[in-house]
Amino acid sequence: MADRFNTIAGWTLFSGIVALGLSSIAGHYFEAGKFEKLEKPGYKIAGVSDDEEKGGGAAAAPFESFLATADVAKGEASFKKCMSCHSIDQGGANGQGPNLYAVLGEGIAQGRGGFAFSDALKAKGGKWDWTSLNSWLENPSAFASGTKMSFAGLTDPQERANVMVYLNSKGSNLPLPPVPAMPAAGAAAAPTVALVGDAAKGQKSFAKCASCHTIAPGGPNGQGPNLAGIYGDKKGEGRGGFAFSDGLKAKGGVWDDASLDAWLTNPSGYVPGTKMSFAGLTDAQERANVIAYLKTAK
Ligand code: HEC
Ligand code: HEC
Repeated sequence: MADRFNTIAGWTLFSGIVALGLSSIAGHYFEAGKFEKLEKPGYKIAGVSDDEEKGGGAAAAPFESFLATADVAKGEASFKKCMSCHSIDQGGANGQGPNLYAVLGEGIAQGRGGFAFSDALKAKGGKWDWTSLNSWLENPSAFASGTKMSFAGLTDPQERANVMVYLNSKGSNLPLPPVPAMPAAGAAAAPTVALVGDAAKGQKSFAKCASCHTIAPGGPNGQGPNLAGIYGDKKGEGRGGFAFSDGLKAKGGVWDDASLDAWLTNPSGYVPGTKMSFAGLTDAQERANVIAYLKTAK
């Protein structure tokens, strides 16, 4: 009997441990999910595919900048995705798709040894240049609705650029387009800081921060530290002993216009692993306003 009791007690204990383990795994799982949810919107900028390779400037990186850093060898490797339908060498046979030798610079859906193009692609007109080829490869059926090319497209801009310079190396040899000067990676901060901030508007926007931050001198720390006198103060230090993340502590230096602008654009881009789960302010003027307001909070 005593043995029986011990067995039952043992199983009860064991299932309790299992349940505990499961609930803690579930807890981690949901926490991880939550973090990702909050973090993601920082990267989502309309018109730009997910791409973190280009660092902070990714948001506005023009396609030309991907072409400028494109790699013919990588493009050749990616071209494997096309080879079930396309040959590329001069005089290569048409298959499910046409031979692609020297296609850049040539008329869209023309020639190619009499390949039977769809009416949709034939109706496009014009030539394959860096712009048209880019949108075609990103999403063929969006470019020519009703196309015969049943291929989902290449969503990664760097991969498209690589494939395009590879195609270009096969009989076209067009010059690469110049990279527009404006949104270059490092320079991105310059025009934004030059915006004049409106502290009164910034105070209104601060409502987005107030769930985690107090700003009055001597205000308590909450989920985030009190922000009185933050402008010009050291990053991730002091603040009544607030427990900063290692990422922010390691940053060094003081908060100035440029660093605050980068931080508020995308906290987890500026400090990977930060505890500030805030997607960021995408509007440069709004950031300038908030920074102007932070300056007034002494
Ligand atoms: C499943 C087969 C298939 C795959 C995979 C495929 N294509 Fe195509 N491709 C086609 C077909 C079919 C056409 C003709 C489309 C039409 O007429 O609407 C075409 C047309 C093209 C054209 C236009 C040619 C011209 O002369 O106007 C280009 C450029 C092209 N493909 C490039 C690519 C590249 C680069 C890849 C790989 C990233 C690729 N394709 C993957 C089947 C394919
Ligand atoms: C969901 C809560 C939350 C929101 C919303 C939030 N923050 Fe934070 N903030 C934090 C946390 C947590 C930290 C500490 C980050 C770390 O240690 O990595 C922090 C840190 C900071 C710091 C650095 C402080 C220091 O001493 O180095 C600044 C500046 C800041 N936040 C400004 C803002 C502004 C401005 C907004 C609104 C536009 C905002 N935060 C929105 C939680 C938040």
